[in-house]
Amino acid sequence: LIKPLSIAVAGLGTVGGGTLSLLERHADLIEQRCGRKVRVAAVSARDKKRDRKLDLSGAAWFDDAVGMAREAPAEVVVELIGGSEGIARQVCETAISSGKHVVTANKALLAHHGVALARAAESKGVSLHFEAAVAGGVPVIKGLREGLAGNGISRVTGILNGTCNYILTSMRESGKEFAEVLEEARKLGYAEADPSFDIDGIDTAHKLAILTSVAFGCETNFGGIHVEGIRHVSARDIAFAEELGFRIKLLGITRMTEHGVEQRVHPCLVPARSAIATVEDVNNAVMVEGDFVGNIMFQGRGAGAGPTASAVVADIIDIARGVNIPTFAVPADKLARIPASPMERHRGAYYIRLMVRDQPGVIADIAAALRDAGISMESMLQHGRAPAGAVPVVMTTHATEEAAMTQALTRIGALKAVFEPPRMIRVEPL
Ligand SMILES: NC(=O)c1ccc[n+]([C@@H]2O[C@H](COP(=O)([O-])OP(=O)(O)OC[C@H]3O[C@@H](n4cnc5c(N)ncnc54)[C@H](OP(=O)(O)O)[C@@H]3O)[C@@H](O)[C@H]2O)c1
Repeated sequence: LIKPLSIAVAGLGTVGGGTLSLLERHADLIEQRCGRKVRVAAVSARDKKRDRKLDLSGAAWFDDAVGMAREAPAEVVVELIGGSEGIARQVCETAISSGKHVVTANKALLAHHGVALARAAESKGVSLHFEAAVAGGVPVIKGLREGLAGNGISRVTGILNGTCNYILTSMRESGKEFAEVLEEARKLGYAEADPSFDIDGIDTAHKLAILTSVAFGCETNFGGIHVEGIRHVSARDIAFAEELGFRIKLLGITRMTEHGVEQRVHPCLVPARSAIATVEDVNNAVMVEGDFVGNIMFQGRGAGAGPTASAVVADIIDIARGVNIPTFAVPADKLARIPASPMERHRGAYYIRLMVRDQPGVIADIAAALRDAGISMESMLQHGRAPAGAVPVVMTTHATEEAAMTQALTRIGALKAVFEPPRMIRVEPL
């Protein structure tokens, strides 16, 4: 008889609670699939008295999660506390140095310290798994690392933050402005009290750093990511985008270019009929371009107790089965250091919205600024007339370098007849 796999779980919140519920509900299924039982030997959270609606009677309680990582009689430590520093980091480091495998859902920790943790784990002969850290329940890490292991990957594009996708979907459907929809999302529990990590693109960037490493076999480089959030997306831009046949999505994109790895997080116009545009509400999606497989898209729920538990338990099952794959798909000491391709070198099409004085000659001045920067316009929209007032003028361009676009926008923004700073949103031809 093979002995059960003993695990210690640090953090019993949304993800930890979901994980324990799944392990209990599917104990038989898991035993059948692993050939051994999975036993929760120890748990830790902040408040021992809290009623968690979980049966914790068989598990030893630890007030100190780091002490648990060191001393608990377990082969695996499951870190579900969160945060890139402090307790979560100590729990993972201690577990590894004590010779225990680690499963975590902690994208912030991996984006900043994943390579160091992977090196430590591999030198100790233990594994570090993190399926739930990227796109929650969507098995994109396994998809990339295992299912697509035979492919050269050229690009990964993802909707990686459910809060942002919900807000943008809701803005489009209701015509309301960002602030109002954010408030509604908070009331519905789709946005946190402090939503800045989500809406400013940081959470997406954490996940993108991890995807880049797995896709390209390189070290994570969070600092090399160009990050913009969705605070400045307006109802007006969403409506214009729709009229032009696009939707606005917050995307994380990582791409190999001649200048290095281009990693960027920002709102994008995507064709309304593209597969990724149809991924709405809190759903996540990851699109991968592989040289043999072609384009492939994973999609599903990126957060919540059930989907994240699904991913965490898949990692636990891998360990129970004895699966041991290098953390970021290639051994940690073989991960390449690829330079970050600067944003000025990005090439793509652009959407520009200007608020201009409705008078003759203005469009000619704008067109001249674009022409002088070598940018050619693809389409232009202008609605309504407001003699002496401001009217919105919207343009899309053909592909150009970001540096040229920045130069043109500086000149256009300085024109007397242009009232507000120009709004620019990049167009992704998906
Ligand atoms: N929520 C999601 O849908 C989701 C999706 C993907 C990834 N993640 C990641 O999963 C991790 C956990 O997220 P969550 O949403 O489950 O968080 P959460 O609901 O806030 O739960 C955090 C848990 O950690 C415990 N904790 C906090 N400080 C602790 C300490 N010093 N010692 C021991 N335990 C401590 C808390 O204890 P108390 O219960 O006693 O307060 C709580 O049980 C994060 O890394 C997050 O980024 C979450």
